[in-house]
Amino acid sequence: MSMPTPPSSPRIRAAGASLVVAIDGPAASGKSSTAQWVAQRLGFRHIDSGALYRAATAVALARAGDTFDETTVLSFVGELSLEPSRHTFAPMWNGESMEELIRAPEVTRLVSRVAQMRGVRAWVDANVRRAAEGRDVVVDGRDIGTVVFPDAHLKVFLIADPWERARRRLTQRHGRAPTDAEIAEETERLVQRDAKDATQTVQAKDAVLIDTTYLTQAEQVERIVSLARVFRDGGPEGLAPRS
Ligand code: DC
Repeated sequence: MSMPTPPSSPRIRAAGASLVVAIDGPAASGKSSTAQWVAQRLGFRHIDSGALYRAATAVALARAGDTFDETTVLSFVGELSLEPSRHTFAPMWNGESMEELIRAPEVTRLVSRVAQMRGVRAWVDANVRRAAEGRDVVVDGRDIGTVVFPDAHLKVFLIADPWERARRRLTQRHGRAPTDAEIAEETERLVQRDAKDATQTVQAKDAVLIDTTYLTQAEQVERIVSLARVFRDGGPEGLAPRS
């Protein structure tokens, strides 16, 4: 009797191929800081795709005010590039760092609108894929495991209770413990943002779901690093690497 052939796993990397770890999840789920930390632990580069949506928004806002449409945004994105530094890729505007600019409250207010524009999504996807070419990367966003890298070796979807996400965000912003009233207000804002970003925030069917509500950041990083090592070091026992 012949044995059935085991299905080959598309997520086990071929020898020498670069490895993609995709981390998706809603706003303030800790994706970017976790992805950055995971990348450093593994010696991979980190790509924050949300930073590119923010960069497109910031440049449109600066050039055209807040009434821009898709054509306007696309007419300015040529001024932007995604440049490598030691552990990460950062958006630059005519060679200048945008680190502060992309975190401005006005950019945060408008970015969901820009992230709905199909042409902008195509521009971000192309830049992220180009940056990832030929190297091991940790990429975070909303649709990395579903649209940008549907064949990523490891996909993680991070979630956390909205109250806890709001508490963490405020603690980080103000450097002190927020009051319940402040957390309640921020929770409301986050839930509204979740609704605006809902169409593109999709958990891939083959993603590992991690609820970080009761985890420290070190614990979540450790889990993802352990999962990634399985793929980096050749796959779980018994699963032959794809040739
Ligand atoms: O994660 P963030 O807050 O920096 O994301 C900024 C915006 O970009 C937010 O509206 C969600 C959107 N986004 C997206 O639609 N797809 C991605 N892959 C990453 C971010």
